[in-house]
Amino acid sequence: MDQTSNSYHQPVLAEACVEMLAPAASGLIVDGTFGGGGHSRALLSAYPQVRILGIDRDPDAVANAPDDPRVHVVLGNFSEIERIVRDELEFPPDVPGTVGGVLLDLGISSHQVDTAERGFSYRRTGPIDMRMGSDVPVSAGDLVNELDEAELRELIHRYGEERHAGRIAHAIVAARPIHDTTALAEVIANAVPAAARRAGHPARKTFQALRIATNAELDALSTGLASAIDLLRPGGRICVISYHSLEDRIVKRTIVHGATGCICPPGLPVCGCGRSASLRNLGRFKPSESEIAANPRSRSAVMRVAEKVAA
Ligand SMILES: C[S@@+](CC[C@H](N)C(=O)[O-])C[C@H]1O[C@@H](n2cnc3c(N)ncnc32)[C@H](O)[C@@H]1O
Repeated sequence: MDQTSNSYHQPVLAEACVEMLAPAASGLIVDGTFGGGGHSRALLSAYPQVRILGIDRDPDAVANAPDDPRVHVVLGNFSEIERIVRDELEFPPDVPGTVGGVLLDLGISSHQVDTAERGFSYRRTGPIDMRMGSDVPVSAGDLVNELDEAELRELIHRYGEERHAGRIAHAIVAARPIHDTTALAEVIANAVPAAARRAGHPARKTFQALRIATNAELDALSTGLASAIDLLRPGGRICVISYHSLEDRIVKRTIVHGATGCICPPGLPVCGCGRSASLRNLGRFKPSESEIAANPRSRSAVMRVAEKVAA
C-alpha cells in the first residue's frame, strides 16, 4: 500500500496525544488502533527512543505499517491487548506493568469510510458490509436483512441513540431485501420526518448503530480498556479518543471508577472499603477550532487521559 498516513487517515488530537504520552518517550507504547499510523508516526518523530506495538483488526492498516525498526504492527483486536503484548514481545511472564503508554483512537479510519466496497458510507454505493476485519462473522447486511423488526429497532435505538428507530426499523423490514448502502440510506431518509432530514444526514445514526453492532465495538472497548490499564506501569498513561457519547461514557466511567479511592464515610477511624485509586484522571481534551476547520471529521472527538498510580 503506497498511501501516506494522511491520505489514509488524518490523525486527530495528535499533538495533545504526543504531549500526554511523553512519560513513555523512551519506553513501549501500544497503539491499539493503528489505522494509518498517524499517531504512531507523530510519536516516532517526537521520541527517537520510543518503541511501538501497533494493533489493528483491519489487514489494510497492518499493510500500511511504516518501515521503521522501532515499530511492529500486528493484526488483532485490542480487546486481546494483554495476550497480544505477551505473544509479540519478549517480555518477562509478568506482563502487567511493562507498558509505558496506550493509545486507543476509536471507530473507523477515513480509509475505511472512503472505500465504498467496505460498506461503511451512506454516501458511497457498496455492499452493506461494515466488517472491520475478517474476524467479524456477520456483516451489517446480514443484520439489516435478517433481524426481526423489534431486534432492528432495539439495535438502532441502543447503538445509534436514534429517536426514530421504530419508523426506520419498520421501513427497512418493508423494503427488504436491501442490497447496498445507498439504497439503505434512501429507505432511512424516507422513513424519518422531514424535520429530521434537515439535521445532518438522516442515515448517520443508523449506520453508526449497524457498525457498532456488527463489530461488537462497545464490548471490545470495555474489555480492552480494563486490560490496557492493567498493563500500564506506574506512571504510564492511557489516551482514549472517542467520537460519540456511547464510547465516551464507557471511557469516562472506567477512568472515574479507577481514580476513585476510599469511599468510606468521613470520620471512620479505619478504612473499611479497602478501595484505593489505580488511576489519576488527567482530564479531557477537544480539538481546536483550527483543527476542526482543517479536519472536519475531528469535530466530535474527545480524548480522555489517565495515569496509572502505584498500587
Ligand atoms: C480512527 S482509526 C485510527 C487512526 C489512527 N490513529 C491514525 O492516526 O491513522 C481506528 C482504527 O482502529 C481500528 N479498530 C477499531 N476497533 C478496533 C479493535 N477493537 N481492535 C483493533 N483495531 C480496531 C480500525 O480498524 C481503524 O483502523
